[in-house]
Amino acid sequence: MRIKFVAGNWKMNGNLAANQVLLHALVEGLARVAGVKCAICAPFPYLAQVQQLLSGSGIGWGAQNVSQFDAGAYTGEVSGAMLVDFGCRYAIVGHSERRTLCSETSEIVAQKYAAALKAGLTPILCVGETLEQRDAGDTEAVVAAQLDAVLERSGALSFAHAVIAYEPVWAIGTGKTATPEQAQAVHAFIRAKLAAQDAVIAQNVQVLYGGSVKGSNATQLFGMPDIDGGLIGGASLDANEMLTICRAASAVN
Ligand code: PGA
Repeated sequence: MRIKFVAGNWKMNGNLAANQVLLHALVEGLARVAGVKCAICAPFPYLAQVQQLLSGSGIGWGAQNVSQFDAGAYTGEVSGAMLVDFGCRYAIVGHSERRTLCSETSEIVAQKYAAALKAGLTPILCVGETLEQRDAGDTEAVVAAQLDAVLERSGALSFAHAVIAYEPVWAIGTGKTATPEQAQAVHAFIRAKLAAQDAVIAQNVQVLYGGSVKGSNATQLFGMPDIDGGLIGGASLDANEMLTICRAASAVN
């Protein structure tokens, strides 16, 4: 059985003082929530603080990006090995904001996914369509192409050590959540696509939903058979919202 997983994506938010308050509240609140895995993906400069405050708490942490390169003359980049040095377990790769704003192609995302695995990190691979693509009926083709780039480079077996996040671009930060049925349909498609290559991997891989998940809609989303938790942006900056979401995940397990 797949355990529910809730990961916070702070994006470019936070500061030392605010992080400390938020992390304390999460550690305290989550100590009383069983049966759900939680993690925080923080900006690079705060990973040392996150490591210090979350160590021993049962909450994992990770980064929002990782370089596709191992080491060397890549000014401004951060390697997987560096993230492991700070206790990271996860690295988000292929978030739509990086695909769009930082011109990351599916090929670059596949390289980052492979680099994360090589460093011993669990990549959280984001896939998802824009509103235009959905309206054109291209959702499955877009998600399939995003997955194919990774499958071609790393193979289906790599998903034994990875997490997928389906994040429809039109639902990210917009307050417009996909309906549980819309999300479920794409999650089932993702699982079926992997099952065509390896049924056991497909059965076991966690597929998270991301895009305006809040305390008020988490229960319905997480109740769908192929939705294994959430990648939470805005709501992960609010301890009460994040705790409500984690409790919802725990309750439907
Ligand atoms: P949101 O972001 O929850 O603020 O919509 C989700 C994400 O971008 O991962």
